[in-house]
Amino acid sequence: MRKVLVAGAGGFIGHHLVNRLKREGCWVRGVDLKLPMFQKSSADEFELADLRLFESCARATRGVDDVYQLAADMGGIGYITAYHAALSRNNILINSHMLEAARLAGVRRYFYSSSACVYPSQLQHAPELQALREAEAIPADPEKGYGWEKLFAEQLTSYFGEEYGLDVRIVRFHNIYGPLGTYDGGREKAPAAICYKLAKVEDGGSIEIWGDGRQTRSFCYIDDCIEGVRRVMESGITQPLNVGSSEIVTVDGLVDTVAEIAGKHVAKVHDMSRPQGVRGRNSDNTALLRVLGWEPSTSLEQGLSLTYEWIYSRLRADGTLPTEPTSCRSALTTLNRT
Ligand SMILES: NC(=O)c1ccc[n+]([C@@H]2O[C@H](COP(=O)([O-])OP(=O)(O)OC[C@H]3O[C@@H](n4cnc5c(N)ncnc54)[C@H](O)[C@@H]3O)[C@@H](O)[C@H]2O)c1
Repeated sequence: MRKVLVAGAGGFIGHHLVNRLKREGCWVRGVDLKLPMFQKSSADEFELADLRLFESCARATRGVDDVYQLAADMGGIGYITAYHAALSRNNILINSHMLEAARLAGVRRYFYSSSACVYPSQLQHAPELQALREAEAIPADPEKGYGWEKLFAEQLTSYFGEEYGLDVRIVRFHNIYGPLGTYDGGREKAPAAICYKLAKVEDGGSIEIWGDGRQTRSFCYIDDCIEGVRRVMESGITQPLNVGSSEIVTVDGLVDTVAEIAGKHVAKVHDMSRPQGVRGRNSDNTALLRVLGWEPSTSLEQGLSLTYEWIYSRLRADGTLPTEPTSCRSALTTLNRT
Protein backbone atom coordinates (compact mmCIF):
# COMPACT_ATOMS: atom_id res chain seq x y z
CA MET A 1 0.00 0.00 0.00
CA ARG A 2 1.41 3.37 -0.99
CA LYS A 3 2.04 5.72 1.93
CA VAL A 4 1.32 9.35 1.18
CA LEU A 5 1.68 12.69 2.95
CA VAL A 6 -0.72 15.51 2.11
CA ALA A 7 0.68 18.75 3.53
CA GLY A 8 -2.15 21.28 3.78
CA ALA A 9 -4.73 18.51 4.34
CA GLY A 10 -6.88 20.86 6.40
CA GLY A 11 -7.31 23.13 3.39
CA PHE A 12 -9.73 23.07 0.48
CA ILE A 13 -7.75 21.19 -2.18
CA GLY A 14 -5.80 19.11 0.35
CA HIS A 15 -8.98 17.79 1.97
CA HIS A 16 -10.46 16.76 -1.39
CA LEU A 17 -7.15 15.14 -2.33
CA VAL A 18 -7.06 13.10 0.89
CA ASN A 19 -10.56 11.78 0.07
CA ARG A 20 -9.46 10.81 -3.43
CA LEU A 21 -6.25 9.08 -2.25
CA LYS A 22 -8.21 7.14 0.36
CA ARG A 23 -10.68 6.00 -2.32
CA GLU A 24 -7.66 4.80 -4.34
CA GLY A 25 -6.51 2.69 -1.40
CA CYS A 26 -3.51 4.71 -0.19
CA TRP A 27 -2.46 5.11 3.42
CA VAL A 28 -2.62 8.87 4.03
CA ARG A 29 -1.07 11.17 6.61
CA GLY A 30 -2.56 14.66 6.63
CA VAL A 31 -0.68 17.57 8.17
CA ASP A 32 -1.87 21.13 8.65
CA LEU A 33 -2.09 23.98 11.13
CA LYS A 34 -5.79 23.26 11.37
CA LEU A 35 -8.39 20.53 10.82
CA PRO A 36 -10.64 20.71 7.73
CA MET A 37 -13.39 23.30 8.28
CA PHE A 38 -16.50 21.49 7.09
CA GLN A 39 -15.89 17.73 7.29
CA LYS A 40 -13.82 15.27 9.28
CA SER A 41 -10.65 14.27 7.44
CA SER A 42 -10.57 10.75 6.02
CA ALA A 43 -6.77 10.60 6.50
CA ASP A 44 -5.43 7.60 8.44
CA GLU A 45 -3.39 9.98 10.55
CA PHE A 46 -3.86 13.74 10.93
CA GLU A 47 -1.18 15.81 12.63
CA LEU A 48 -1.52 19.43 13.61
CA ALA A 49 1.86 21.04 12.93
CA ASP A 50 3.45 24.26 11.76
CA LEU A 51 5.32 23.38 8.56
CA ARG A 52 7.35 26.60 8.70
CA LEU A 53 9.49 24.64 11.17
CA PHE A 54 11.98 22.14 9.80
CA GLU A 55 11.34 19.67 12.65
CA SER A 56 7.62 19.59 11.73
CA CYS A 57 8.49 18.87 8.08
CA ALA A 58 10.93 16.12 9.11
CA ARG A 59 8.23 14.52 11.27
CA ALA A 60 5.57 14.91 8.57
CA THR A 61 7.66 13.21 5.85
CA ARG A 62 8.81 10.21 7.89
CA GLY A 63 8.10 6.86 6.26
CA VAL A 64 6.08 8.09 3.27
CA ASP A 65 6.57 7.27 -0.42
CA ASP A 66 4.95 10.37 -1.90
CA VAL A 67 4.49 13.96 -0.76
CA TYR A 68 1.81 16.36 -1.98
CA GLN A 69 2.86 19.83 -0.83
CA LEU A 70 -0.29 21.98 -0.71
CA ALA A 71 0.31 23.89 2.52
CA ALA A 72 0.46 27.63 1.98
CA ASP A 73 -0.53 30.89 3.56
CA MET A 74 -3.02 32.04 0.94
CA GLY A 75 -6.44 33.44 0.15
CA GLY A 76 -8.34 35.47 -2.42
CA ILE A 77 -7.09 38.63 -4.09
CA GLY A 78 -7.91 40.81 -1.06
CA TYR A 79 -5.78 38.62 1.19
CA ILE A 80 -2.76 37.99 -1.03
CA THR A 81 -2.40 41.68 -1.90
CA ALA A 82 -2.54 42.78 1.75
CA TYR A 83 0.17 40.70 3.43
CA HIS A 84 3.16 40.41 1.11
CA ALA A 85 5.88 40.15 3.76
CA ALA A 86 4.32 37.68 6.17
CA LEU A 87 2.81 35.52 3.43
CA SER A 88 6.04 35.29 1.40
CA ARG A 89 8.10 34.48 4.47
CA ASN A 90 5.65 31.83 5.67
CA ASN A 91 5.48 30.14 2.29
CA ILE A 92 9.19 30.12 1.52
CA LEU A 93 9.87 28.60 4.94
CA ILE A 94 7.27 25.88 4.33
CA ASN A 95 8.53 25.09 0.82
CA SER A 96 12.26 25.09 1.52
CA HIS A 97 11.90 22.97 4.67
CA MET A 98 9.46 20.55 3.04
CA LEU A 99 11.82 19.91 0.13
CA GLU A 100 14.83 19.31 2.36
CA ALA A 101 12.83 17.09 4.72
CA ALA A 102 11.49 15.05 1.77
CA ARG A 103 14.99 14.63 0.38
CA LEU A 104 16.39 13.46 3.73
CA ALA A 105 13.45 11.09 4.23
CA GLY A 106 14.12 9.46 0.83
CA VAL A 107 10.71 10.34 -0.56
CA ARG A 108 9.95 8.71 -3.92
CA ARG A 109 7.95 11.52 -5.55
CA TYR A 110 7.20 15.13 -4.60
CA PHE A 111 4.28 17.24 -5.84
CA TYR A 112 4.37 21.02 -5.60
CA SER A 113 1.23 23.16 -5.96
CA SER A 114 2.08 26.37 -7.76
CA SER A 115 -0.24 28.99 -9.19
CA ALA A 116 -1.25 31.02 -12.24
CA CYS A 117 0.03 33.97 -10.18
CA VAL A 118 3.56 33.12 -11.43
CA TYR A 119 2.77 34.52 -14.91
CA PRO A 120 4.08 37.97 -15.86
CA SER A 121 1.69 40.88 -15.41
CA GLN A 122 2.38 42.28 -18.90
CA LEU A 123 0.73 39.18 -20.41
CA GLN A 124 -2.43 39.85 -18.42
CA HIS A 125 -3.16 43.56 -18.80
CA ALA A 126 -6.23 43.22 -21.06
CA PRO A 127 -9.35 41.04 -20.69
CA GLU A 128 -9.05 39.46 -24.15
CA LEU A 129 -5.37 38.44 -24.12
CA GLN A 130 -4.14 35.00 -25.13
CA ALA A 131 -4.24 32.18 -22.60
CA LEU A 132 -1.06 31.63 -20.57
CA ARG A 133 1.42 29.00 -21.72
CA GLU A 134 3.83 27.35 -19.28
CA ALA A 135 6.96 28.63 -21.03
CA GLU A 136 5.81 32.26 -20.62
CA ALA A 137 6.45 32.40 -16.87
CA ILE A 138 10.05 33.47 -17.56
CA PRO A 139 11.23 36.25 -18.08
CA ALA A 140 9.53 36.84 -14.78
CA ASP A 141 7.23 39.54 -13.46
CA PRO A 142 4.79 37.58 -11.32
CA GLU A 143 2.22 38.75 -8.79
CA LYS A 144 3.92 40.65 -5.98
CA GLY A 145 4.59 38.53 -2.87
CA TYR A 146 2.54 35.37 -3.41
CA GLY A 147 3.47 34.97 -7.10
CA TRP A 148 7.19 35.64 -6.61
CA GLU A 149 7.35 33.08 -3.84
CA LYS A 150 5.49 30.51 -5.96
CA LEU A 151 7.85 31.05 -8.87
CA PHE A 152 10.95 30.76 -6.72
CA ALA A 153 9.57 27.67 -4.97
CA GLU A 154 8.97 26.12 -8.42
CA GLN A 155 12.63 26.78 -9.24
CA LEU A 156 13.76 25.39 -5.90
CA THR A 157 11.65 22.26 -6.47
CA SER A 158 13.31 21.82 -9.89
CA TYR A 159 16.80 22.26 -8.38
CA PHE A 160 16.04 19.48 -5.90
CA GLY A 161 15.05 17.35 -8.87
CA GLU A 162 18.16 18.16 -10.88
CA GLU A 163 20.77 18.02 -8.12
CA TYR A 164 19.38 15.50 -5.63
CA GLY A 165 17.35 13.28 -7.95
CA LEU A 166 14.05 14.01 -6.18
CA ASP A 167 11.30 13.00 -8.62
CA VAL A 168 9.28 16.22 -8.74
CA ARG A 169 5.94 17.31 -10.22
CA ILE A 170 4.87 20.94 -10.45
CA VAL A 171 1.36 22.15 -11.24
CA ARG A 172 0.07 25.70 -11.70
CA PHE A 173 -3.53 25.84 -10.49
CA HIS A 174 -5.89 28.39 -12.05
CA ASN A 175 -8.70 29.49 -9.66
CA ILE A 176 -9.93 26.25 -8.16
CA TYR A 177 -13.45 26.32 -6.69
CA GLY A 178 -16.19 24.00 -5.47
CA PRO A 179 -17.96 22.64 -2.39
CA LEU A 180 -16.05 22.66 0.93
CA GLY A 181 -14.17 25.84 -0.01
CA THR A 182 -14.09 28.91 2.25
CA TYR A 183 -16.88 31.33 1.38
CA ASP A 184 -16.49 34.10 3.96
CA GLY A 185 -13.99 35.52 6.43
CA GLY A 186 -11.56 37.20 3.98
CA ARG A 187 -9.72 34.23 2.40
CA GLU A 188 -12.53 33.24 0.00
CA LYS A 189 -12.07 33.31 -3.78
CA ALA A 190 -14.38 34.96 -6.32
CA PRO A 191 -16.73 32.02 -7.16
CA ALA A 192 -17.42 31.21 -3.49
CA ALA A 193 -17.68 34.90 -2.56
CA ILE A 194 -20.23 35.50 -5.33
CA CYS A 195 -22.25 32.36 -4.48
CA TYR A 196 -22.31 33.51 -0.85
CA LYS A 197 -23.49 37.01 -1.76
CA LEU A 198 -26.16 35.67 -4.13
CA ALA A 199 -27.39 33.18 -1.54
CA LYS A 200 -27.83 35.96 1.03
CA VAL A 201 -29.24 38.77 -1.10
CA GLU A 202 -32.99 39.28 -1.58
CA ASP A 203 -34.36 38.85 -5.09
CA GLY A 204 -34.22 42.37 -6.62
CA GLY A 205 -31.40 43.47 -4.28
CA SER A 206 -27.84 44.46 -5.13
CA ILE A 207 -24.40 42.98 -4.59
CA GLU A 208 -20.95 44.53 -4.50
CA ILE A 209 -18.42 43.44 -7.13
CA TRP A 210 -14.71 44.17 -6.85
CA GLY A 211 -13.54 46.17 -9.87
CA ASP A 212 -15.50 47.01 -13.03
CA GLY A 213 -16.61 43.40 -13.60
CA ARG A 214 -14.99 43.25 -17.05
CA GLN A 215 -11.81 41.49 -15.85
CA THR A 216 -11.67 37.91 -17.19
CA ARG A 217 -10.73 34.62 -15.54
CA SER A 218 -11.18 30.90 -15.93
CA PHE A 219 -12.36 28.80 -13.00
CA CYS A 220 -11.56 25.12 -12.53
CA TYR A 221 -13.94 22.83 -10.65
CA ILE A 222 -12.39 20.92 -7.74
CA ASP A 223 -13.04 17.42 -9.17
CA ASP A 224 -11.12 18.36 -12.34
CA CYS A 225 -8.32 19.82 -10.21
CA ILE A 226 -7.94 16.58 -8.22
CA GLU A 227 -8.07 14.49 -11.39
CA GLY A 228 -5.33 16.70 -12.85
CA VAL A 229 -3.19 16.38 -9.72
CA ARG A 230 -3.38 12.60 -9.83
CA ARG A 231 -2.73 12.40 -13.55
CA VAL A 232 0.29 14.68 -13.32
CA MET A 233 1.61 12.78 -10.31
CA GLU A 234 1.44 9.49 -12.22
CA SER A 235 2.99 11.02 -15.36
CA GLY A 236 6.69 11.39 -15.97
CA ILE A 237 6.45 15.18 -16.40
CA THR A 238 8.80 17.16 -14.17
CA GLN A 239 8.20 20.54 -15.88
CA PRO A 240 5.43 22.86 -14.58
CA LEU A 241 1.99 22.25 -16.09
CA ASN A 242 -1.18 24.36 -15.95
CA VAL A 243 -4.19 22.75 -14.33
CA GLY A 244 -7.09 25.05 -15.13
CA SER A 245 -10.17 25.41 -17.24
CA SER A 246 -9.91 27.20 -20.57
CA GLU A 247 -13.54 28.44 -20.35
CA ILE A 248 -13.03 32.16 -19.91
CA VAL A 249 -15.64 34.44 -18.32
CA THR A 250 -15.84 38.04 -17.11
CA VAL A 251 -16.51 38.60 -13.42
CA ASP A 252 -19.87 40.14 -14.41
CA GLY A 253 -20.55 36.98 -16.43
CA LEU A 254 -19.72 34.88 -13.39
CA VAL A 255 -22.25 36.87 -11.35
CA ASP A 256 -24.91 36.49 -14.06
CA THR A 257 -24.42 32.72 -14.12
CA VAL A 258 -24.73 32.42 -10.34
CA ALA A 259 -27.75 34.77 -10.34
CA GLU A 260 -29.46 32.51 -12.86
CA ILE A 261 -28.68 29.44 -10.76
CA ALA A 262 -30.02 31.25 -7.68
CA GLY A 263 -33.11 32.35 -9.57
CA LYS A 264 -32.57 35.98 -8.52
CA HIS A 265 -32.32 39.32 -10.28
CA VAL A 266 -29.66 41.53 -8.73
CA ALA A 267 -28.05 44.87 -9.48
CA LYS A 268 -24.25 44.87 -9.60
CA VAL A 269 -22.49 47.64 -7.70
CA HIS A 270 -18.91 47.89 -8.90
CA ASP A 271 -16.44 49.03 -6.25
CA MET A 272 -13.32 50.33 -7.98
CA SER A 273 -11.49 50.88 -4.70
CA ARG A 274 -11.21 47.12 -4.09
CA PRO A 275 -8.30 44.98 -5.43
CA GLN A 276 -9.21 43.24 -8.68
CA GLY A 277 -5.97 41.59 -9.81
CA VAL A 278 -4.86 41.29 -13.42
CA ARG A 279 -7.27 42.28 -16.24
CA GLY A 280 -7.30 38.95 -18.03
CA ARG A 281 -6.13 35.45 -17.18
CA ASN A 282 -6.86 32.10 -18.81
CA SER A 283 -5.21 28.68 -18.85
CA ASP A 284 -3.62 27.44 -22.07
CA ASN A 285 -4.09 23.67 -21.95
CA THR A 286 -2.09 22.78 -25.06
CA ALA A 287 0.73 21.20 -23.06
CA LEU A 288 -1.66 19.42 -20.72
CA LEU A 289 -3.53 17.90 -23.67
CA ARG A 290 -0.30 16.95 -25.40
CA VAL A 291 1.28 15.15 -22.45
CA LEU A 292 -1.78 13.80 -20.64
CA GLY A 293 -4.43 13.71 -23.38
CA TRP A 294 -6.75 15.29 -20.82
CA GLU A 295 -8.01 18.68 -19.64
CA PRO A 296 -10.64 19.89 -17.15
CA SER A 297 -14.13 19.45 -18.58
CA THR A 298 -16.71 20.47 -15.96
CA SER A 299 -18.63 23.43 -17.35
CA LEU A 300 -18.73 26.61 -15.31
CA GLU A 301 -22.50 26.33 -14.96
CA GLN A 302 -22.29 22.76 -13.67
CA GLY A 303 -19.52 23.59 -11.19
CA LEU A 304 -21.18 26.78 -9.98
CA SER A 305 -24.51 24.99 -9.52
CA LEU A 306 -22.91 22.45 -7.23
CA THR A 307 -20.98 25.15 -5.37
CA TYR A 308 -24.00 27.43 -4.96
CA GLU A 309 -26.15 24.55 -3.76
CA TRP A 310 -23.54 23.61 -1.16
CA ILE A 311 -23.11 27.17 0.16
CA TYR A 312 -26.87 27.72 0.14
CA SER A 313 -27.47 24.56 2.17
CA ARG A 314 -24.72 25.54 4.64
CA LEU A 315 -26.34 28.93 5.19
CA ARG A 316 -29.73 27.33 5.69
CA ALA A 317 -28.30 24.79 8.12
CA ASP A 318 -26.58 27.44 10.25
CA GLY A 319 -29.69 29.63 10.37
CA THR A 320 -28.34 32.46 8.21
CA LEU A 321 -31.12 31.87 5.68
CA PRO A 322 -34.77 30.92 6.24
CA THR A 323 -35.26 27.15 6.19
CA GLU A 324 -37.87 27.27 3.42
CA PRO A 325 -36.16 27.98 0.09
CA THR A 326 -37.72 30.91 -1.72
CA SER A 327 -35.82 31.12 -4.97
CA CYS A 328 -32.99 28.59 -5.08
CA ARG A 329 -33.04 26.59 -8.28
CA SER A 330 -31.76 23.13 -7.45
CA ALA A 331 -28.28 22.24 -8.68
CA LEU A 332 -29.68 18.92 -9.82
CA THR A 333 -32.21 20.68 -12.00
CA THR A 334 -29.40 22.59 -13.60
CA LEU A 335 -27.29 19.51 -14.12
CA ASN A 336 -30.19 17.62 -15.68
CA ARG A 337 -30.69 20.48 -18.08
CA THR A 338 -27.04 20.71 -19.21
N1 LIG B 1 -7.42 27.34 -4.62
C1 LIG B 1 -6.86 27.92 -5.67
O1 LIG B 1 -7.54 28.50 -6.52
C2 LIG B 1 -5.37 27.86 -5.86
C3 LIG B 1 -4.84 28.50 -6.99
C4 LIG B 1 -3.46 28.46 -7.18
C5 LIG B 1 -2.66 27.78 -6.29
N2 LIG B 1 -3.20 27.19 -5.19
C6 LIG B 1 -2.28 26.51 -4.26
O2 LIG B 1 -2.80 25.23 -3.93
C7 LIG B 1 -2.48 24.92 -2.57
C8 LIG B 1 -3.75 24.58 -1.81
O3 LIG B 1 -4.66 25.68 -1.92
P1 LIG B 1 -6.08 25.68 -1.20
O4 LIG B 1 -7.01 26.40 -2.09
O5 LIG B 1 -6.43 24.33 -0.71
O6 LIG B 1 -5.77 26.65 0.02
P2 LIG B 1 -6.18 26.50 1.56
O7 LIG B 1 -5.85 27.82 2.19
O8 LIG B 1 -7.56 26.01 1.69
O9 LIG B 1 -5.19 25.37 2.07
C9 LIG B 1 -3.88 25.63 2.44
C10 LIG B 1 -3.66 24.98 3.80
O10 LIG B 1 -2.31 25.22 4.21
C11 LIG B 1 -2.32 25.33 5.61
N3 LIG B 1 -1.14 26.01 6.12
C12 LIG B 1 -0.83 27.33 6.00
N4 LIG B 1 0.28 27.60 6.67
C13 LIG B 1 0.69 26.42 7.24
C14 LIG B 1 1.76 26.06 8.08
N5 LIG B 1 2.67 26.96 8.49
N6 LIG B 1 1.86 24.78 8.48
C15 LIG B 1 0.93 23.85 8.10
N7 LIG B 1 -0.10 24.13 7.31
C16 LIG B 1 -0.23 25.41 6.89
C17 LIG B 1 -3.59 26.14 5.90
O11 LIG B 1 -3.98 25.98 7.25
C18 LIG B 1 -4.56 25.58 4.89
O12 LIG B 1 -5.37 24.57 5.46
C19 LIG B 1 -1.73 26.12 -2.02
O13 LIG B 1 -0.35 25.92 -2.16
C20 LIG B 1 -2.16 27.25 -2.95
O14 LIG B 1 -1.20 28.28 -2.98
C21 LIG B 1 -4.53 27.21 -4.97
